[in-house]
Amino acid sequence: MIIEPRTRGFICLTSHPTGCEQNVIDQIEYVKLKGKIDGAKKVLVIGASTGFGLASRITSAFGSDAATIGVFFDKPATEGRPGSPGYYNTAAFEKHAHQAGLYAKSINGDAFSNEIKEQVVNLIKEDLGQIDLVIYSLASPVRKHPETGKRYKSVLKPIGEVFSNKTVDFHTGNVSEISINPAEGDDIANTVTVMGGEDWKMWMDALQAENLLSEGATTVAYSYIGPDVTKPVYRNGTIGAAKDDLEKTAVTITDDLKSIGGKAYVSVNKALVTQASSAIPVIPLYISLLFKVMKEKNIHEGCIEQIQRLYSQRLFGGDLDLDAKGRIRVDDWEMREDVQAEIAELWKSATTENLSEIGDLEGYSNEFFKLFGFKVAGVDYDADVNEVVKIPSEQ
Ligand code: NAI
Ligand code: NA
Repeated sequence: MIIEPRTRGFICLTSHPTGCEQNVIDQIEYVKLKGKIDGAKKVLVIGASTGFGLASRITSAFGSDAATIGVFFDKPATEGRPGSPGYYNTAAFEKHAHQAGLYAKSINGDAFSNEIKEQVVNLIKEDLGQIDLVIYSLASPVRKHPETGKRYKSVLKPIGEVFSNKTVDFHTGNVSEISINPAEGDDIANTVTVMGGEDWKMWMDALQAENLLSEGATTVAYSYIGPDVTKPVYRNGTIGAAKDDLEKTAVTITDDLKSIGGKAYVSVNKALVTQASSAIPVIPLYISLLFKVMKEKNIHEGCIEQIQRLYSQRLFGGDLDLDAKGRIRVDDWEMREDVQAEIAELWKSATTENLSEIGDLEGYSNEFFKLFGFKVAGVDYDADVNEVVKIPSEQ
């Protein structure tokens, strides 16, 4: 079939298998070009099909020749209906990993559930024995708690008071004023339950209970801080409360891993265009200004550049360069004073009329479509494509 993007608000309902494969190939090529990383050899990535998790899987496999197990929650294609991008990405990743002689298997299902944890535990027992590195990169709006069966929903709200600021509809370029009502009821607790550290710890407990972590095993989860303009809705908002919890959990897990000399870290990453960040008001305007400024300064990075740098310079580079709170910081270039000062200036003047000039609106929009395999250089979108692609290890 011929597949075209079909958007509804902040989501795209279709995705393109050839474009997704090309995205994966481009990331593989980038990692190979950067050279070998003396890193972990047996890697479990939870949230492995898109964004930072996919970039982590690619960097482990093609930077360190690692065997990888990927866990994610994606929709396979059916006749006439494209699958989700993460499904196509993983099919492409496995194909290229296998061609390179690398072990790669995938488990598609709810990572929050006991069943999926059990499946992963069994797969590790059968195939890899022990794991050296666990990347925790889930981003989900909901979590069904494995003990109670209760479903929790996360929200993106400020805490305490209404937050008003500018935002942009990146499809139209329309800049407007938006007001977001503060969290109420159980909003904060629910968001922490979904995006905080509890499930990360459950994963590590499950692995450790079965002796599936190697001596000195490391685990890393991803976090975000960001600038003052987004603080009320991000770091000081409900999602920030969840990130605080995630960061605290790193300390708990490191404690749990003492007997094997293991460590848990949080890496604070740069703001990037993902489905999730497109849905948070104010953030898209910030990102479009951020991209413009960072591209002008030649320090722009996408997921793969971020994770390749995290691995080669921090995790396996001999210097973690932790901040005062014990976190790895690869948002260092985003947070540079000169970068933030320029954005703060641009922020004040940003309007519908000037945003395409002072901000990288086009870059934002292109990145958004790229998430779904569209607008990828080198792909012929007029060509007939087979939408039903299978993940090799699932056949
Ligand atoms: P993403 O949406 O691209 O990836 C999320 C992954 O989680 C996908 O592989 C998806 O299949 C999987 N997933 C979601 N729910 C699942 C479930 N119930 N069971 C199994 N798999 C599930 O997200 P992204 O942007 O890569 O985020 C990953 C982490 O990085 C998050 O903790 C996020 O807060 C953090 N981060 C994101 C930034 C951004 O700008 N996007 C910036 C800094 C940190
Ligand atoms: Na991810």
